Amino acid sequence: MATIIHPIIYPMTPGFAAEVGDVDLSRPLAEAEFSAIQEAFWEFAVLVFPGQQLTQQQHVAFAKRFGEIETDTAQGRKVSQGRIGKNFADVSNLDHQGKIWGKDSRQRMFQLCNQLWHTDSSFKRRPALASLLYARSIPPLGGHTQFADQRAGYDALPEEMKARLTGLVAEHSIFHSRKRVGFTDFNEEDYQRLPPVPQVMVRTIPQSGRKSLYLASHAGRVFGLPDDEGLALIDQLTEHTTQRQFVYTHRWRVDDLVMWDNRCTMHRGTQFDDLRWERDMQRATIRDVANSCEQEGIPAP
Ligand code: OGA
Ligand code: MN
Repeated sequence: MATIIHPIIYPMTPGFAAEVGDVDLSRPLAEAEFSAIQEAFWEFAVLVFPGQQLTQQQHVAFAKRFGEIETDTAQGRKVSQGRIGKNFADVSNLDHQGKIWGKDSRQRMFQLCNQLWHTDSSFKRRPALASLLYARSIPPLGGHTQFADQRAGYDALPEEMKARLTGLVAEHSIFHSRKRVGFTDFNEEDYQRLPPVPQVMVRTIPQSGRKSLYLASHAGRVFGLPDDEGLALIDQLTEHTTQRQFVYTHRWRVDDLVMWDNRCTMHRGTQFDDLRWERDMQRATIRDVANSCEQEGIPAP
């Protein structure tokens, strides 16, 4: 009988972000191996798997063990169609022919918003549970990804703030985050396709029982508050939960697979010379089970 080698978990901080070794994600994992990874994921919220050699099929096969793959991309229009297929978000700076994008391309405008703190697909009614990002090529400098622990951010809030946030719901829209960087060139069809959605501001993660802030640059208003007050609250909490003690910065190596829990982390890309260096990343995204208001039992406004 073959002995099963258990994955080894190397925490990078006591409770947030861990490296996982002695596991080859290109193979179907034994149940014991998978549950060790799953347990670590619920605990650390960000997992780094170095040195994985994955085909697209293998990447998707591993991702699918966590749930249903998201196949509707936010960009919609035919900007990046064809390069990597519908199971992935194309997080590269390459056009459909595999060449570095143009300075004024729409695809570039969209992706530059990844440099704002966000969590994936919170602008969809049913947002993303997890993202699995795989590095095929990386620039020689810059282009890191930062992750902020929104559970630790929540825990560190003053009690009055925790009380104030109870039951609050924010409005998330992809057009809020685009507006933040001055990108407003959208038509009626775009607005129809991605209407604003409600998401709770504090959620409980069922697998760990931990409470977490749930914020993103997509959040633009808070229901029941005047617009400017709601936005100020969102900005204040974002600043709080992205302080350095809550942040892990991932410096990519080729063949790293990094996965994160979108329900309780935010992330952002850091700058690099995207008109000079190729950065080729593909992301498989797992859908959450329901809208966050539904999961919390809070009636959506
Ligand atoms: C993403 C994302 C940031 C980066 O893949 O969802 O926001 O550094 N990526 O590429
Ligand atoms: Mn993202």
